[in-house]
Amino acid sequence: MQVGLTGLNCEEHLTKPFEFLLKRGNQPPEPRTIAPEDIRALLEAGMAAPSAAPVKPWHFVTIANRFRLQALGAAHTHGAMLAESALAIAVCADPEITGGNWSHEVSGVTQNILLAAVSLGLGTIWIGSHPSEERKAAIRKVLAIPDSVDVLGLVAIGYPSSGKPARAEFHEGRVHEEEW
Ligand SMILES: Cc1cc2nc3c(=O)[nH]c(=O)nc-3n(C[C@H](O)[C@H](O)[C@H](O)COP(=O)(O)O)c2cc1C
Repeated sequence: MQVGLTGLNCEEHLTKPFEFLLKRGNQPPEPRTIAPEDIRALLEAGMAAPSAAPVKPWHFVTIANRFRLQALGAAHTHGAMLAESALAIAVCADPEITGGNWSHEVSGVTQNILLAAVSLGLGTIWIGSHPSEERKAAIRKVLAIPDSVDVLGLVAIGYPSSGKPARAEFHEGRVHEEEW
């Protein structure tokens, strides 16, 4: 298998963008080891996100150790599924690089990881921690993240245990043509 984004079959996804998006994440992950080249591809997709300036304040912690995943699941009030996941990625940012805009930066990074996961046949759940200082502190403790580094959240990753049907969503009342 090719390493990195070249392994994602980008051509197919560029020609079918909507199909790609509609099959987005949040399928319950099943614990099965994820290949190192797939982890690399997820991180490359995150690092390819647009960045103002570009400052690229991101840092990542990848977690595959079962005990640590369980500790993360116990530490996060809405993250019990982490304990069962094959992998988690903590999406972090160094606010010193960006000042106040770090969360915008790494939100795009997180969404890129979710979309790349679909390409790889993986299920994901975005588990937020920002802006809860309590959640961030709990994650920092388990992952030994320095206090100076901020934590947007975690992505729980695994192989989907059941196929979640794709759905489209369109709310006409939220679209304003030319003027509000
Ligand atoms: C910023 C953000 C934070 C989230 N935090 C959590 C969380 O803590 N726990 C969780 O189970 N899901 C979390 N989710 C996932 C959502 O609850 C939801 O399942 C997801 O957006 C996909 O839903 P859909 O496929 O129905 O659109 C979060 C999603 C976002 C965008």
